[in-house]
Amino acid sequence: MVVENAGTTARNLDATREWLERNLNSTAVIETERFSFFYGKEQALRDVSLSIPLDGVTAIMGPSGCGKSTLLRAFNRMNELYPNTRSGGTVRFLGQDLLKADPVAVRRHIGMVFQRPNPFPKSIFDNVAYGPRVHGNRNRAELRDIVEESLRRAALWDEVKDNLKKSAFSLSGGQQQRLCIARSLAVRPSVLLMDEPCSALDPKATDRIEATTRELAKELTVVIVTHNLQQAGRLSDHVAVLLAEGVLAEFGPTKTVFEHPCNEQVADYLCGRFG
Ligand SMILES: Nc1ncnc2c1ncn2[C@@H]1O[C@H](COP(=O)(O)OP(=O)(O)O)[C@@H](O)[C@H]1O
Ligand SMILES: [Mg+2]
Repeated sequence: MVVENAGTTARNLDATREWLERNLNSTAVIETERFSFFYGKEQALRDVSLSIPLDGVTAIMGPSGCGKSTLLRAFNRMNELYPNTRSGGTVRFLGQDLLKADPVAVRRHIGMVFQRPNPFPKSIFDNVAYGPRVHGNRNRAELRDIVEESLRRAALWDEVKDNLKKSAFSLSGGQQQRLCIARSLAVRPSVLLMDEPCSALDPKATDRIEATTRELAKELTVVIVTHNLQQAGRLSDHVAVLLAEGVLAEFGPTKTVFEHPCNEQVADYLCGRFG
């Protein structure tokens, strides 16, 4: 995959920015152009064109069923795992057509965390070591370093460092979600996709995930789906608002979109008048 040559390593935003500016004259990591998506005959996304900036957190918002998860899954080819689907338009990652790339390579570069924490029925250590092992790393010492680094980045290390052999299911919901973040980070992706990662968590666990997400955004690109307006306001630098039937109604810096939405329907949505 061409992205191997792109000089992207996790925690190296400056190198990626320089590469993007030099080669693509932009700072967009992921770009969709008139992207549409269908489940059978039902259209879930309509001609969505948007650029996810390298820096900061981008939130995808909108009422239930408007296509947020579908759009997020288009960014790492997870949609293909559903039968009977088709797409139109393009999705590019670092300038390269994602739909023509190797899906395994794509998912190494673009990790994902889901709505409900979904640790494997394995130990804490083995959950985090899973990705590196799949990619062929069998070196005990290296794996130990990667597990520690990933758990630290996910702000979970101090809580689990003495219990790495314990089952992941022994953790609380919030800890399990941070474990899933650590598992994604272990293959050192350059983008982390998060689909309503706090929707199954209490307010305290939500705070921890939000703080962790802000920290991570200093090192990689974060795209988060949320239907929580306050969370998008607190957490994101840019926001995309999808409305009914998968139409992208607005995209821009969060402050601008919240304070001066240029679309009346978006204004209604942001005032909580629907959705
Ligand atoms: N696996 C699927 N099979 C068929 N239809 C789906 C599937 N996933 C989502 N959809 C439909 O696509 C539309 C967008 O869904 P989704 O992306 O999950 O929206 P959101 O995440 O904003 O709630 C909805 O109408 C939903 O019913
Ligand atoms: Mg969803």
